Amino acid sequence: MFKNRLKSNAKKIDLFLKGYLKSQKRSLLINPMNYGLLSGGKKIRSSVIFAAGKLYNLKSNNLLNICGAVECIHSYSLIHDDLPCMDNDKLRRGKATTHIKYGESTAVLAGNSLLTLAFEMISDKRFKIKDKNKISLIKRLAECSGHTGIAGGQELDLKYEKKRKKFKEIINMQRKKTGKLFGFCCFAAGQIAGQSKKTKIKLIKLGEDIGLLFQLADDFLDIKGKSKYTGKKVNKDKKKR
Ligand code: IPE
Ligand code: IPE
Ligand code: MG
Ligand code: MG
Repeated sequence: MFKNRLKSNAKKIDLFLKGYLKSQKRSLLINPMNYGLLSGGKKIRSSVIFAAGKLYNLKSNNLLNICGAVECIHSYSLIHDDLPCMDNDKLRRGKATTHIKYGESTAVLAGNSLLTLAFEMISDKRFKIKDKNKISLIKRLAECSGHTGIAGGQELDLKYEKKRKKFKEIINMQRKKTGKLFGFCCFAAGQIAGQSKKTKIKLIKLGEDIGLLFQLADDFLDIKGKSKYTGKKVNKDKKKR
């Protein structure tokens, strides 16, 4: 039941993203962007956005640009995460990683372009929400993606390799690299629904906790999971201890 819901949500958002990329001007980077964004992936963050939207009776069709933006940022982070200078992985979502398929420099640029496309999606004229909400979403999404969010968390993750770190430090790193984007997913629904600041803070906390749990589950799958099911190499984290 839950699995079917996840699948149909993923289909919906993939369709939106496909259409959005098609509506872009042509460039050499469109194909690698398409590959990094649309070749599989659970699109679980979009499902969190839809679920948070449901709390306030928001229709999923009115949340697609937010889902699309979050998926662009997530996919950009994975393309870069797999690069030789980071985790050096060759398999993602059961397929060759973007740099294996298109080369390193192209993967870096396709990743950058997905990051900026996310902000294009939210500021898009066709996305009919109040300008005030767009500005809040853009600001919060930037904070969750840059040095205080994903990028900052990734930097800590790499710096912590082969080091003994305190539990609190690990959780802070996981919260930044994964939790914050989930926090944004819940915040976005509250923002569009016109919720109070207090409620939005609670939504952010809820989303971040979901993200943390998700990252912990992903880390367990690295130990206990099978590549056939996770679509990526397993037992990778042991080598970084
Ligand atoms: C993988 O995220 C990286 C983590 C933050 C744990 P997902 O498991 O959501 O990746 P896809 O998009 O489904 O491949
Ligand atoms: C994925 O992190 C990237 C981000 C969370 C930004 P990991 O390196 O822990 O996850 P996998 O195992 O490559 O998906
Ligand atoms: Mg990593
Ligand atoms: Mg990795």
